[in-house]
Amino acid sequence: MFLLKVFFLLLQVVTVAVYSRADIPPPPEPEPIEIIELPLPPVASAVEGSCTSGTGCILQHAGLVQGGSFLPDGNHVIARVNYTGAPAAPDPASVYTGDQIILVKADGSSFSNGSPFKCITCGVPQDSSQGKTEALDYPQAFRDGRRILAGTNIIDCGEFDLVSDECTPESTFIHPIRWNTAVDGSGEGGSIRELRLHPDNLHIGFNSFTYDAGKLNQYAYTGRLALNSAPTTGLPMAPRYDLTNVNVLSNNDTRNIPLIVDRDQIRINTDAITVGEFRGFSGSGKEATYIGYPRESSNIDVFAVDLATGDVRRLTSHPEYCDPIDISADDEWMAIMDTRGSNRQMFMAGMRNVPPLTDIISTTATSSTRNNGQRRFFQPYLLDHYGDRDDYYGQQVNAAGDGSPGSINDPQWNGMADPRFSLDVTRLVYWQALVVSPACGGENPLPCPNSTEPGGRTERLMVAHFTSRQPVPVTDIEPLSDTISWGTPYEPGTVPSRELFISGGVYTLYGTANGSAQVTIVENGDAIETVAVTYESYSDDGLTFLDGTENITVRNPTVTLNEVDWYSDLTQRGQTNATKKTSPDGFHLSIDVNTNIFNANGTLSTTVNGTLYTQPANGT
Ligand SMILES: *[C@@H]1O[C@H](CO)[C@@H](O)[C@H](O)[C@H]1NC(C)=O
Ligand SMILES: *[C@@H]1O[C@H](CO)[C@@H](O)[C@H](O)[C@H]1NC(C)=O
Ligand SMILES: *[C@@H]1O[C@H](CO)[C@@H](O)[C@H](O)[C@H]1NC(C)=O
Ligand SMILES: *[C@@H]1O[C@H](CO)[C@@H](O)[C@H](O)[C@H]1NC(C)=O
Ligand SMILES: *[C@@H]1O[C@H](CO)[C@@H](O)[C@H](O)[C@H]1NC(C)=O
Ligand SMILES: *[C@@H]1O[C@H](CO)[C@@H](O)[C@H](O)[C@H]1NC(C)=O
Ligand SMILES: *[C@@H]1O[C@H](CO)[C@@H](O)[C@H](O)[C@H]1NC(C)=O
Ligand SMILES: *[C@@H]1O[C@H](CO)[C@@H](O)[C@H](O)[C@H]1NC(C)=O
Repeated sequence: MFLLKVFFLLLQVVTVAVYSRADIPPPPEPEPIEIIELPLPPVASAVEGSCTSGTGCILQHAGLVQGGSFLPDGNHVIARVNYTGAPAAPDPASVYTGDQIILVKADGSSFSNGSPFKCITCGVPQDSSQGKTEALDYPQAFRDGRRILAGTNIIDCGEFDLVSDECTPESTFIHPIRWNTAVDGSGEGGSIRELRLHPDNLHIGFNSFTYDAGKLNQYAYTGRLALNSAPTTGLPMAPRYDLTNVNVLSNNDTRNIPLIVDRDQIRINTDAITVGEFRGFSGSGKEATYIGYPRESSNIDVFAVDLATGDVRRLTSHPEYCDPIDISADDEWMAIMDTRGSNRQMFMAGMRNVPPLTDIISTTATSSTRNNGQRRFFQPYLLDHYGDRDDYYGQQVNAAGDGSPGSINDPQWNGMADPRFSLDVTRLVYWQALVVSPACGGENPLPCPNSTEPGGRTERLMVAHFTSRQPVPVTDIEPLSDTISWGTPYEPGTVPSRELFISGGVYTLYGTANGSAQVTIVENGDAIETVAVTYESYSDDGLTFLDGTENITVRNPTVTLNEVDWYSDLTQRGQTNATKKTSPDGFHLSIDVNTNIFNANGTLSTTVNGTLYTQPANGT
């Protein structure tokens, strides 16, 4: 789930130039990419004894729970699987049960057990995994090849390489990570989500929800991992990693505010640090990536912020939705999962250069339309360090194939989070899930495809090989500073907050190049309910000019439900001719961020240079 908050403050603008255009090289030529599929354990039914493989079987659906990163050797991929159908005890194979972390050979070879799989967490004695938490998501390798971060756990094979025969269940330890949020150090600590390991292997970044004034918010943090082998306070009272030197990746400075109010004027702060959802670290660890407050209306992008200086780079600008991202160890490349090419979001985001004003309230809804329940519209794309620019929108990684069922570019196989580069940057591992009911079949006009995978498996683990590349040597990583100068040191007992909203009233936003927008903000209680804008020859780039009106009203009957009333009648002229219009009765969208099922009446459509983009049908 992804949420963006409102950031406001009545202060002065600070701008920081990051690159001048002259510094940016031309985009790279497309490169040769070979795709292979990695093996996964065979599929079995949930019936005990239905698995005849000595090294376990997985569920047909969601048997691959998540693909992870490569080990540092580039020959093994970490995966989270859900084992099923285990032979009944006392068969020793019954350790292959439930939610586990495995290694998969990526070079076609086998472990000494003769299989391409090695379960790392299966059969680890309870004494060695006290306090282990259920979350094993986003499994990521440490650079020593001996430890894995999985969810809020660190799996540790001590002095042994995870791939070696010496790394057995008996030599493996699983320690939970605890973030103390209580003044007296008691309790289980704060809830931490979507952990990413900093390449210094000493720090992590993560997201955590807050609930203030009935609104669900999310903040991002960094923290240092400190092994506490004998805790005296807090739960669990077992060997664990405590997070120390925790920083909130936000503060109340103007630098964190995308729209700045100065009396009756609004200005857009294009260099604002607006960490909506933390997504990871760059290869050198100097930057954090995040989904930020949009730079263009309804266009959700990934940004990078320099952890030392706070300089921000916008990495993607394609109107479609982006969120999973990995930056290569040499910082030269990024791999993203993006809805680009699917036209999913074009009906609302296709018109470019619309300032992000209605987004004050609509961003949660406009980012929720990107998928239909379990159906993602993501495909993996490769971009260079500088990201989208001019006509460059990267190279689709899995472009090979004829689009037929089960082919490499079969659009019914949806990209999932995260794609990950090998440390030497010659490979990328990504995983996909086949669309399944109710996102297809039944009333849905999309028939459910039959999986062509062994056993009808509905997930698959893929490796892209960049065959023309030389391996990039491993370099030392400068440890992340324990102080993020532009963030806020976290104090236990406090809850971050920055929901300082713009007051109701009428404001003017002047185009950088021409014209203006009149912005009316309507408050209801302690929240902004409506943003209404009238554009007059508005232009930031001097190339396209915007006229017309747009207003959006958002209500939250529950914390996760967004009810949106949307009226657009916008016309853009100049280098691009575009329109963005709702039907006369408006466009009314109801969407819950927990399910992301599109449900609307009325229409919203966009034309760009004569191409018409319309909204998805309800439930699709
Ligand atoms: C594994 O499968 C079981 C049985 O279907 C299910 O209850 C459990 O939630 C699954 N675990 C994960 C992590 O998907
Ligand atoms: C920002 O200001 C609010 C309201 O004054 C305060 O509650 C909050 O703690 C501040 N947040 C940070 C990160 O300093
Ligand atoms: C899937 O297989 C079933 C049974 O063979 C068949 O009836 C159905 O048409 C197939 N679906 C598609 C989309 O090919
Ligand atoms: C620039 O804006 C002014 C009004 O502010 C308008 O008269 C003029 O036509 C605009 N220029 C273009 C090219 O739209
Ligand atoms: C939004 O625009 C529609 C159509 O122009 C109009 O009927 C409605 O009153 C406007 N709503 C607000 C709150 O400005
Ligand atoms: C619209 O067409 C013009 C002329 O071909 C082109 O310069 C411009 O980039 C196009 N706009 C978009 C958004 O594709
Ligand atoms: C935009 O519309 C104008 C006026 O109809 C036309 O002259 C121009 O060629 C169009 N530009 C593009 C890129 O389609
Ligand atoms: C249109 O959608 C809105 C918002 O979900 C809802 O309140 C309204 O009842 C719907 N109208 C019709 C005619 O379905």
